[in-house]
Amino acid sequence: MDNFDIHAVAESERRAVSDTVRAALLTGPITDDVYESEIESWEHGDFLAAWDGERCVGNVGAFHFDTSVPGGARLKTAGVTEVGILPTHTRRGLLTSLISRLLIDARSAGNNLASLRASETPIYGRFGFGLAGDTVSAVIDARRARPLRCDPPSGTMRVLERHELLSKVPPIYDSSRWRVGTVNRPDWIWPHKLRAALEPAPSRFGKGTFVAAHTSDAGEDDGYVLYEVEWDEDFADNPTGKGRVFDLWGASPAVELALWDYALGIDLVVVWRAEPRPVDDPIRLAMFDSRAYETRQRLDEQWVRLLDVDAALKRRTFGPTDKSAVVEVDDPMFTENCGRWTISRAGAQRTDAKPDLRVDIATLSATYLGGVPWSGLAASGALSDAPTEALSDLDALFAVQPAPFSGTMF
Ligand SMILES: CC(C)(COP(=O)(O)OP(=O)(O)OC[C@H]1O[C@@H](n2cnc3c(N)ncnc32)[C@H](O)[C@@H]1OP(=O)(O)O)[C@@H](O)C(=O)NCCC(=O)NCCS
Repeated sequence: MDNFDIHAVAESERRAVSDTVRAALLTGPITDDVYESEIESWEHGDFLAAWDGERCVGNVGAFHFDTSVPGGARLKTAGVTEVGILPTHTRRGLLTSLISRLLIDARSAGNNLASLRASETPIYGRFGFGLAGDTVSAVIDARRARPLRCDPPSGTMRVLERHELLSKVPPIYDSSRWRVGTVNRPDWIWPHKLRAALEPAPSRFGKGTFVAAHTSDAGEDDGYVLYEVEWDEDFADNPTGKGRVFDLWGASPAVELALWDYALGIDLVVVWRAEPRPVDDPIRLAMFDSRAYETRQRLDEQWVRLLDVDAALKRRTFGPTDKSAVVEVDDPMFTENCGRWTISRAGAQRTDAKPDLRVDIATLSATYLGGVPWSGLAASGALSDAPTEALSDLDALFAVQPAPFSGTMF
């Protein structure tokens, strides 16, 4: 690789670095106001840039998160972000140098996992990331969806006032992380996430963005839906509305059904688009006509890399089977992650026993959250010569229900 200067981004360098990342991600220069509102998040992460003389030519970053893993533990996670190399400098090894150093630093700082959302799927496998969970986007015909087949929802709904949003919504999200793969949302995320609901519209026409909260019969706020509604003038003969669900979290699946029941019952809205949603969203089967929920796109969501295999395996739980398996792991980046582990319902232990299966770190990382079956990976050709019995034992040990889902973009 050419001799580029790579160092941690100083505050005075952030504007140049963020201009570079935006250029790599196909967006142009921004005004000072927009820059100020975007850059605040950089206070909460670690950023590493490459310089060719005076010019910033590439960057990688990591926000500080935790990730929910099977059994409920929340593992310290480097949320890899702001990855971009200027088009003049791609394919010269810059990402390789930057991300290797970022991951080494992240492991030293005590992160058990790294996690990211990829612009393209071929980029990160070589650095040990595995595709650990998908999302779907759905289009829903509101008039065919109701009445829902579940019991009538309990509790009450109310539309939150703008001044309540930043205090009411974050705690509801925190108590709704029952799915594996969710990440915490630090304070700095919320003004971005809720921006459209927080800011009054510049015109009396156009979209409206709202947050409606669910309150249980016991008086607890235990769910919310962030949504946008819009009159659609295109339907000239039968003016009508459309809506989008951006974020919907409840303390239980039943609360989430209550939130859906509210949204799907909003007058004038005949079609909803919802994304990102979990691949096993309970609302689909709760609909009067389940074909009212049409999955339009299934995409990779979270790419996970185990930074500390021993800690990560020990901090998740495994399925209630009497079977066990010995897995040998190879990680070219971290020798500490190389070795064999016996996996059983009692947990994971280092061992010298003969392995049932050998895997690279990206494959182990893909299976870690429990949403990607070992047997499925083997069927795709990702695990050569894996004995069928060991695969089904590992499936039983690793699998989780419901499917992993993050729902948080960074
Ligand atoms: C993706 C990106 C960061 C790669 O940076 P880079 O400095 O060119 O990557 P490297 O030179 O270190 O490439 C390392 C290897 O990955 C491969 N690779 C890199 N980007 C790839 C891509 N988009 N698709 C397929 N392979 C890719 C390279 O060919 C190289 O393979 P090799 O080792 O077999 O030769 C850069 O192309 C970029 O900024 N793209 C646009 C913005 C973007 O998508 N950012 C990621 C946001 S999640």
